[in-house]
Amino acid sequence: MSGTSQAGGTVQAAGTVQARGTVQGPGTKPGPGTTRICDSFGRQAHRYNQQAQLQRAIAWRLARQCAHLNLPTGPSADLGAGTGLVGQALQQLAPQIALEQVDGCPQLLARNPLASRNPATRRHWDLEQGLPAGLHGAALLTSSFTLQWLNQPERHLTQWAQALAPGGWLVLAVPTKGCFPQWHGAAQRAQVPCTALPLPRSTDLLSAAAGPLRLLHGREHRFSRTYGDGPSFLRQIRQLGAGVSPNPPLSPGQWRALLRQWPASGIVSWQVLVLVGQKR
Ligand SMILES: C[S@@+](CC[C@H](N)C(=O)[O-])C[C@H]1O[C@@H](n2cnc3c(N)ncnc32)[C@H](O)[C@@H]1O
Repeated sequence: MSGTSQAGGTVQAAGTVQARGTVQGPGTKPGPGTTRICDSFGRQAHRYNQQAQLQRAIAWRLARQCAHLNLPTGPSADLGAGTGLVGQALQQLAPQIALEQVDGCPQLLARNPLASRNPATRRHWDLEQGLPAGLHGAALLTSSFTLQWLNQPERHLTQWAQALAPGGWLVLAVPTKGCFPQWHGAAQRAQVPCTALPLPRSTDLLSAAAGPLRLLHGREHRFSRTYGDGPSFLRQIRQLGAGVSPNPPLSPGQWRALLRQWPASGIVSWQVLVLVGQKR
C-alpha cells in the first residue's frame, strides 16, 4: 500500500523510475505504473520475506484451499508470485502441484527459491499485458496481494477466470476497500488527503468473478495488527516495497497533522477478500 510518499518523500513521481531489466509482454512496453511498482518492490526485495507476515499467513490459507482441489489437465501458476510464499506453502501441502512463478519484479524472482531452483518455472512478465499465452487453459491460477496493483482489477480478474480450463480453479486473496480505516480516519480528522493506494471493492470483484466462475468461497477477512505509531506502520509498508501511491505526496505540514491524529492504539486493520472459484 502507500506510505512512502508521506513518510519520507522517497517515492519518485510516476514515470521517473526506469525499469530494471525487460518485462516480457505481447509486443508492448510496461506502463509507467508497472515500472514504478515493480521498481519499488525491487528496491526492498531483500526485506520482503521478513516484513511479509500477513502475506505469509494468507499464502498458507490459499495453499490449504488449493491442496485438495481436483484439478483438470493444464498449467498452474501463481500470478504476482514475488518471493514464492504461496508456491512454497503449496509445495509442502501438495508437492504434486507446481506453480509457475509469474512476476514483474526480477529482484523478487531472484529471491524466489521455486523460480531459481527451476528456471522453467520462472516467468518475468507484466500482468498489465494480460496472461502469458501459455497459461490459457490453466488448471489452477493463484494470486495473493497482487491484483490491487493492476489497473482495473475487476477486468483482470474476469480475464484470469476466463482463461481457466473448464473445471479449472482460481484461488485469490486481495486487500479491499475496507483496509486501513485508522489511516483514512486520521486523514479525515487532520483534513488532509489520504494517500493510501485505492483498493477495489469486494462486491465489484465478486461480481467480476461470478460470470465465468462458480464461487466456492468468497469472503472478506479482517486482520488487525499493532504497528506502534503512524511512522512505524508506514515504514513497514515501505519496507515491504509497497510504498507506492498514485496520489501526490503530503507536505511536511500535512504529514505532521496526519500523525497527530493517528490512533494511540497503534492498531491498523486490513480487509482481505479470499475467493475460490471453479470455471463453469
Ligand atoms: C505484495 S507483493 C505479493 C507477492 C506474493 N504474492 C506474496 O503474497 O508474498 C505484490 C507482487 O505483485 C507484483 N506485481 C505488481 N504489479 C505487477 C505487474 N503489473 N506485473 C507483474 N507483477 C506485478 C510485484 O512485483 C509483487 O511481487
